[in-house]
Amino acid sequence: MLAGKRIVLGVTGGIAAYKAVEVCRRLVDAGAHVVPVMTAGAEHFIGRTTLSALASEPVQTSLWDEASPIPHTRLGQSADLVLVVPATARLLAAYAAGLSTDLLTNTLLATRAPVIVCPAMHTEMWEHPAVQANVATLRARGVHIVEPESGRLAGGDVGAGRLAAPERIVEAVARVLDAGPLAGLHVVVSAGGTREPIDAVRVIANRSSGKQGYAIAAEAAARGARVSLVTTVDLPVPAGAQVHAVETAAQMQEAIEQLAASADIIVMAAAVADFRPVAAAAGKLKKDQGTPQIVLEPTPDILAGLGERKRPGQVLVGFAAETSDLLANAAAKLTRKHLDLIVANDVSAPGVGFQHDTNAVTLLRADGSVRTIPLADKRSIAQAVLDTVDDIRGT
Ligand code: PMT
Repeated sequence: MLAGKRIVLGVTGGIAAYKAVEVCRRLVDAGAHVVPVMTAGAEHFIGRTTLSALASEPVQTSLWDEASPIPHTRLGQSADLVLVVPATARLLAAYAAGLSTDLLTNTLLATRAPVIVCPAMHTEMWEHPAVQANVATLRARGVHIVEPESGRLAGGDVGAGRLAAPERIVEAVARVLDAGPLAGLHVVVSAGGTREPIDAVRVIANRSSGKQGYAIAAEAAARGARVSLVTTVDLPVPAGAQVHAVETAAQMQEAIEQLAASADIIVMAAAVADFRPVAAAAGKLKKDQGTPQIVLEPTPDILAGLGERKRPGQVLVGFAAETSDLLANAAAKLTRKHLDLIVANDVSAPGVGFQHDTNAVTLLRADGSVRTIPLADKRSIAQAVLDTVDDIRGT
């Protein structure tokens, strides 16, 4: 995925420096040529030998200990990308202010390559207005920021500031370098269950958690696609995906139809309500008004509409959530909605479908071929779905 790409990996002095080792390994595994640069602070946390052993070149730490008199310009000019993992508050401040205090900050100022910084620090520091202002300055200059996550921090505290997971960082590198197999493609994914209002407080909903849709969005972004995620749920946004929050089937239809005009691949993993109340009561229905008679009407079939207007070359993927006659029902939907692929899941089976972290699916293609994926985590299911989409596209 990153073959031939030269990446300068800057490591600064935070406890998360040990995770830079894993990032380095993953970049090298993906084919990148990794040139590590450590700050003096980083050496308090990890040894040079560890990074040197995994990277493509020995670690560099100083402006003065190289044969080359100007190592920073050589590093900056030859890089396809400069990545800083972790980026401390000091590094962010120096870079935002244009201060060249060491080899890494000199390299950052001497490069025209894209730069990704991955901040990690304690919550209080991350939320400090000075740090946030520096991040905003860097972002406004076009620096890519892989935001830290919330979770357990050094010393047992819990909060925002934990370094993003190594796989998210490597995904960001692939995305910025436009290096994945889906680079240049626009993928639209729907996720979650729609909510149809009965009155001001009540809705008709379903059990979809959005996990399967988010896994597909994350995998598509990791493969280099521009991803639009139309969602009814509020899960952590996969790096690189643009979220469009919706609630009802009508809102989902409007968002998806707009995005479909430029979509190369559309994956409808959402559980869209088939019926909605004809009219939602303006206020809250009261018990003393008697049992309400809720009249339902069918919602628009978003996927069927997309199938009718499919552009040449566009790949349309639906899901089928079934509790009986899995293959027959899914095949009927594949044909009726003019799909290229339908992902059938028997949601009555243990660990399958709604809310679980796992799924088991059968992939039915318009050309009649069938592939079964036994119970696996939803990211693995997403990989199988996108591998099949690749096949359909003939890539
Ligand atoms: O979200 P999770 O908890 O991770 O669970 C995942 C899942 C079970 C929701 C997912 O794997 C799944 O099966 N999604 C589709 C659920 C569904 O609505 O299936 P369906 O058989 O009713 O619909 C068939 C297809 O038509 C789906 O792609 C659906 O998005 C689409 N549809 C349905 C109705 C409608 N009005 N418009 C649509 O576009």
